[in-house]
Amino acid sequence: MKQQTRRKFVRLALMVPPVVALAACGEQSPTAQSLTTTTAASTTQAAATTSAITTATATTAAKTTTTAAPATTTQAATTAPATTTQAATTVAQVLPPTPQCSSKAATTIAETEGPYFKPSSPLRTSLLESGITGTKLVVTGYVLSTSCQPVKNALVDFWQADANGQYDNTGFKMRGHQFTDDTGKFYLETVIPGLYPGRTRHIHVKVQAPSQPILTTQLFFPGEARNQTDGIFHQSLLMQVQDITAGAKQGNFNFVLSL
Ligand SMILES: [Fe+2]
Repeated sequence: MKQQTRRKFVRLALMVPPVVALAACGEQSPTAQSLTTTTAASTTQAAATTSAITTATATTAAKTTTTAAPATTTQAATTAPATTTQAATTVAQVLPPTPQCSSKAATTIAETEGPYFKPSSPLRTSLLESGITGTKLVVTGYVLSTSCQPVKNALVDFWQADANGQYDNTGFKMRGHQFTDDTGKFYLETVIPGLYPGRTRHIHVKVQAPSQPILTTQLFFPGEARNQTDGIFHQSLLMQVQDITAGAKQGNFNFVLSL
């Protein structure tokens, strides 16, 4: 009898979906990153509250966030120390409804590469270096398949103008590539790019799953007046941007590749 019970438990355990897939499918994982909490427990509670306020699918969102919270708390703590409840309230005001992945997710659209891409950028997660000025920006998110599965070891190559709207075409300032971790996550430290003639504010990026085609696209900032006049701008490429500390912002975006 005991053996039958043990077998039943094992079968049930195998039916539980991977935590990492749950975390990656929703926008709530990036939400958890932005919460400035110091413990897993408080992060979970704050994120669940956020979901309840901002989405019509509170139950799913809360479950997703609960599983993701412990994994993202450490990074949140290092990027933006402890101001818990207030930060969670701010997030609740800016997040759109939590996306579902009951059907295929829409792939991230491609955008023009522009004239300033350079291959062989440095491998790094921070573009901050001596001489770089401007408002600090952390860009985080996941690379996912259309079934919301995380894509690990995906190449994510960023390049952008500096805070004065200038590209470094002789060196590699404001350029860098990295690879997603086992949960499909990327993390970039940079500054908010400056405007230059004819364009709205943007960050260029190439994303490539291992041995798959390269997606070249751009990320945009909400609330920019030039978003209305820039022919390259696209609503679906808007990051969710919020303040994380005084003078620093965080942008979240999930790339969905045609996989
Ligand atoms: Fe550009």
